Amino acid sequence: MDKIFADNILQGKVAFVTGGATGITGGVARAFSEAGAKLAITSRKEENLIAQKQFIEENGGECFAIAADVRDYAAVENAIAETVKHYGKIDIVVNGAAGNFLCKANELSANGFATVVDIDTKGTFNVCRAAFEELKSSRGQILNISATLHYLATPMQIHVSAAKAGVDAITRNLSVEWGRYGIRVNGIAPGPIEDTEGMKRLLLPELKDKLVKRIPLQRFGRIADIENAALFLTSDAASYINGVTLVVDGGQWLLGTSLM
Ligand code: COA
Repeated sequence: MDKIFADNILQGKVAFVTGGATGITGGVARAFSEAGAKLAITSRKEENLIAQKQFIEENGGECFAIAADVRDYAAVENAIAETVKHYGKIDIVVNGAAGNFLCKANELSANGFATVVDIDTKGTFNVCRAAFEELKSSRGQILNISATLHYLATPMQIHVSAAKAGVDAITRNLSVEWGRYGIRVNGIAPGPIEDTEGMKRLLLPELKDKLVKRIPLQRFGRIADIENAALFLTSDAASYINGVTLVVDGGQWLLGTSLM
């Protein structure tokens, strides 16, 4: 894809990205690095962190990688503290760590529901809370990766729908409470994005063709579409945007079509 933004729009910024090793937020981390930011990435899986760190460094970026489960507040606090020790500050936090699987509500266990809410919602709060003092010092910002599943209703996704509704509430509440400190808090709600773990796990191949015809723009999203939205929202171009979750889905949710 042709270059859309000016060079180095995030020069000098330090970005802390959860789930920053793979998938959509892995792409966002790489795009931030290309835009001049220094990266700190967390994930539960060490091997994914190593691969992403290597990729970013081979492409001329800086990457500090630290394993942490966002459900574990002490581990999150430690990852934030180690990042600050490494770079001296944090300017941008991206909450991308998420869990997902398809399951009918009447077959989902209480622990299955709680696990996804813990990763997505509690994990997002944990990271925002632990990063607050740093973001206050840097007049930084938060970007929460959400979804559109809960705008209407998405069968087999009650756990993720509830979790992401909580994430959107966190985006709005923190934007109001922390705006006075110069901290902007926004979100992105991606639609169906090609070449992601989510798409492989959540969309049966036979439903792919059916779904693409029901997307107004007649194509699946690309990770680059989310990267560009993330670059826009975290750049100075969006300096008066606060408390917004930007839908990047080709218009898909508006049709309200369920494939189930
Ligand atoms: N269907 C139904 N229930 C499921 C499930 C599935 N596919 N996968 C996990 N669960 C339930 C488990 O049965 C368990 O509940 P139980 O104790 O009542 O049996 C609960 O969820 C926790 O599962 P566990 O595997 O112990 O949790 P975990 O923390 O290791 O895994 C998940 C986290 C659940 C998110 C797991 O699916 C995962 O790691 N996914 C990969 C990452 C991912 O989803 N990325 C997002 C792509 S969009």
